[in-house]
Amino acid sequence: MSECLLEIRGVHKAFQKGNEHINVLTGADLQIQRGDALSIVGASGAGKSTLLHIMGTLDMPDQGEVFYEEKNLCAMSSPALADFRNQHLGFVFQFHHLLPEFSALENVMMPALIRRMSRQEAQDKASAILHEVGLGERLTHKPGELSGGEQQRVALARALILNPPLLLADEVTGNLDQKTGDEIHKLLVDLNEQKGITIVVVTHNSALASSMQRQIVLQEGLLVEVGA
Ligand SMILES: Nc1ncnc2c1ncn2[C@@H]1O[C@H](COP(=O)(O)OP(=O)(O)O)[C@@H](O)[C@H]1O
Ligand SMILES: [Mg+2]
Repeated sequence: MSECLLEIRGVHKAFQKGNEHINVLTGADLQIQRGDALSIVGASGAGKSTLLHIMGTLDMPDQGEVFYEEKNLCAMSSPALADFRNQHLGFVFQFHHLLPEFSALENVMMPALIRRMSRQEAQDKASAILHEVGLGERLTHKPGELSGGEQQRVALARALILNPPLLLADEVTGNLDQKTGDEIHKLLVDLNEQKGITIVVVTHNSALASSMQRQIVLQEGLLVEVGA
């Protein structure tokens, strides 16, 4: 039997920009089961990043709720949410946000060090994950010495070092050429199939989107599942 990992219920979100009031989410509902591989597509500006931020507690809905394993995240304090994110979520963004002055290995170690893991253990884990994403030969390279695809692999390794059950990926292939993007996408699918990590992938690429087990379209503030 499948088990609901993350649920959003009746989520509304609006932004005020000058005189303009933008209704981005207007009652979005979604249940994500543990082990799901799910894509979210929608026009530019439709609210995909807003939705992902709310799913990942980086932003709060104006109305509605977000549950993780039936725990209401909207009722938690900021420090509790920071802990929650650290333990349960991995994020990868379109821009990798790696620290330019640190090596690939050090960038990946960072979340583990923040979690007060010993330096040796953090280093061992970071090295193992970088090998898994195909960067075993690039441990001491700094972000500026890596290709775009390699930088995204480092960002992915950093998101994975604490073994999050849920990975949220926002247009991670958006800046890459097609072949490199496909490779990163394949890596995400492998993580889902081989490690059982639940993945939510926002993408512009309809071929990538339709290769996922579940496909969601964000349109006029609502989520519609297609091809179910
Ligand atoms: N912090 C913000 N302040 C004002 N408007 C915002 C903010 N964040 C997003 N928006 C607006 O909300 C809409 C949805 O943005 P976003 O979620 O980034 O869309 P997508 O990721 O689908 O391209 C856009 O019109 C954007 O300009
Ligand atoms: Mg976006």
